[in-house]
Amino acid sequence: MTDSTPLSPAGDRHFDGLVEKFAGSLYGGPRGALRLAMLDELLPAMLQLDGQPLLDVGGGLGQLSAWFARRGHPVTLLEPAGDMLDQAREALGGLPVSFVQAPLQALPERAPGPWSLIACHAVLEWLSDPRAAFATLADGLAPGGQLSLMVFNRDALRMSNVVKGNLQKALDDRLEGTGRRQRLTPISPLCHERIVAWSQECGLSIHSVAGIRIFHDYLRQPPANEDDWQRLVALERRYCQAEPHWRLGRYLLYTLVKEGEQSCRENRR
Ligand SMILES: C[S@@+](CC[C@H](N)C(=O)[O-])C[C@H]1O[C@@H](n2cnc3c(N)ncnc32)[C@H](O)[C@@H]1O
Repeated sequence: MTDSTPLSPAGDRHFDGLVEKFAGSLYGGPRGALRLAMLDELLPAMLQLDGQPLLDVGGGLGQLSAWFARRGHPVTLLEPAGDMLDQAREALGGLPVSFVQAPLQALPERAPGPWSLIACHAVLEWLSDPRAAFATLADGLAPGGQLSLMVFNRDALRMSNVVKGNLQKALDDRLEGTGRRQRLTPISPLCHERIVAWSQECGLSIHSVAGIRIFHDYLRQPPANEDDWQRLVALERRYCQAEPHWRLGRYLLYTLVKEGEQSCRENRR
């Protein structure tokens, strides 16, 4: 069988050819609805928002860009996959969003900033070198600038594999996806310790962190009715920033703030 969705020359998984799969399996069901409901509550609480311009890196179909644009932020959506970008352009018509077809690695040339607000949600885990990408994001921030970073949590991936009975896979620590064909298991799932280390390297401080889908993905059966769904959402909201629950959220959501002027690349030498 031919590989219909090859990796980019940099080894990243651009989502060309994945629009329908991504829209359906991620945003079309309860997982996506829960993620958006949690972001709706958490973003205003975790970020200082005053209508500043936003750079949305790896913006995909544009749900996050739309959230900010509807709240008065001029948005630049950077995304390498042409068909994702076309779909986003159609969905976001009429909103103050400009579109740039480029990968994160081209940020210094294509959207140099410096930016007071950058969002990069569910992207680093699709890259072959997420550490270098993190440094690029940090260097794109203005002093005092905020990075809203969301990453796919490797610890949660281990936990859900065990819960599903994939014991040998978990024991062998074979958790990563290959990025081939239509699979949506990320090639570089990340853990909290890495984000802590990279933030230190890059002069970013972690202002807040939350887990997204801390309970949902471990349920033995989906909520039976609307009342149970509302109870689940209430539990997710109540414990998403509480120890120990946030640590096993399927995604980890951070607000990282750039402390000074230094370049991350210089620090890492
Ligand atoms: C899981 S989707 C997330 C989309 C969106 N940020 C969201 O939260 O819905 C991952 C996105 O990252 C994009 N991507 C992959 N490699 C990238 C790169 N090198 N630079 C920027 N975006 C990239 C993919 O094309 C895809 O649109």
